Amino acid sequence: MNAAIRAIARSAMTAGLEAYGINYGFAGLVAGDIHQLSSSDMDGIIARGGTILYSARFPEFAEEKVQLQGIEQLKKFGIDALVVIGGDGSYHGAERLSQHGFNSVGIPGTIDNDIPGTDFTIGFDTAVNTALDALDRINDTATSHQRVFVVEVMGRGAGDIALWAGVSAGADAIVIPERDYDIKAIADKIKLNRKKGKDHALIVLAEGVMSAADFKTKLDQYGSFDSRAITLGHVQRGGRPTAKDRVLASRFGDYAVKLLLEGKGSLAIGIRDNKLVATDIIDTLENHKHITDVSLQDVNKRLRF
Ligand code: F6P
Repeated sequence: MNAAIRAIARSAMTAGLEAYGINYGFAGLVAGDIHQLSSSDMDGIIARGGTILYSARFPEFAEEKVQLQGIEQLKKFGIDALVVIGGDGSYHGAERLSQHGFNSVGIPGTIDNDIPGTDFTIGFDTAVNTALDALDRINDTATSHQRVFVVEVMGRGAGDIALWAGVSAGADAIVIPERDYDIKAIADKIKLNRKKGKDHALIVLAEGVMSAADFKTKLDQYGSFDSRAITLGHVQRGGRPTAKDRVLASRFGDYAVKLLLEGKGSLAIGIRDNKLVATDIIDTLENHKHITDVSLQDVNKRLRF
C-alpha cells in the first residue's frame, strides 16, 4: 500500500497539486486526522510493508450521517477528490462517497485478491510469495520426516492465495472454498502415493474452507498420517513487498491521479490482461464479483496426483 500512497502523492505533486494523507482510513477521515504530504515523506516507503497511513476497521461508516461528516472534513481541508486504497470495506466507503457526489476512486489493496474489476490486487503477490517461502520450508520437514502437513493460508472467502501458493509449492492438494472437496479422496491419494514410494504430503488449505486443525482432525479419521496442522496467519500480511506488487501499486496510483485530473471519478481501478482499467465503482461493486481462477486447481491435480 505504501507504494500506492507514494505514487498517488508524487504523481499529484508532479502535476502541481497538493496531496493529503488521511490516517486510520474512514475513522481518521471523520475525525479530521488529515495532513499534507511532502515528497520527502515518500522517501523509502516503497520498500516497506503495511501502510504509513495506518488502517482501521470502522463499521460506523455504513451510516449516512457519518459519511456526510467525512465529506464535511474533506471540504474543510479543501480536498476535491479522494483515492481510497483497500479491500471490500474501503470500496464500499468510496462507493458511498461517490453516491453523495464526492469524487472517489478505489485502488484494490488486499492480500485476498477478492475485489471485483481487477485480475490482481496490491499485496496479493507479496502474500503468495511469503506463503510460498513458508511452504518450501515446511516441505523440507515433510520430506525428511515423512509427514503430512496441512497448511492454512489466508484469503478470507477466496481461494486465490491457496491456489497460487499451492501450485508454486507443488502441493499435493489445494482445498479452496470455491469448489467442493473430498477429504477421503485426498487421504486415499496420500495412501496410494505411499505405496508408490512418496511418503510425505503437503496440503494447502484456504482459511475460507475450515481451519487447518479441523482439517487435520478429519483427515486423521481416514488413516495414520503423522500429520501436522499449521496456520500461517498474519505473517502473510507484512514484509518487504515484491517487485510485482510495487510496480502494480505504482501504476495504480499514477493512473488514479491521471483519471482525476481528466475530471473522471467514482471509479474502481484495476488491471485486466495486464492493461489498466477503470470501471464505475458502484456498478463494479453491485453487479460484479471477483472470479477466482479455479482452473489452477485442475492444473495442480494434473501435475501432482
Ligand atoms: O482481508 C485480509 C485478511 O488478512 C484476511 O485474509 C483475513 O481473513 C483477515 O484479513 C484477518 O483479519 P484480522 O487481522 O482482523 O484478524
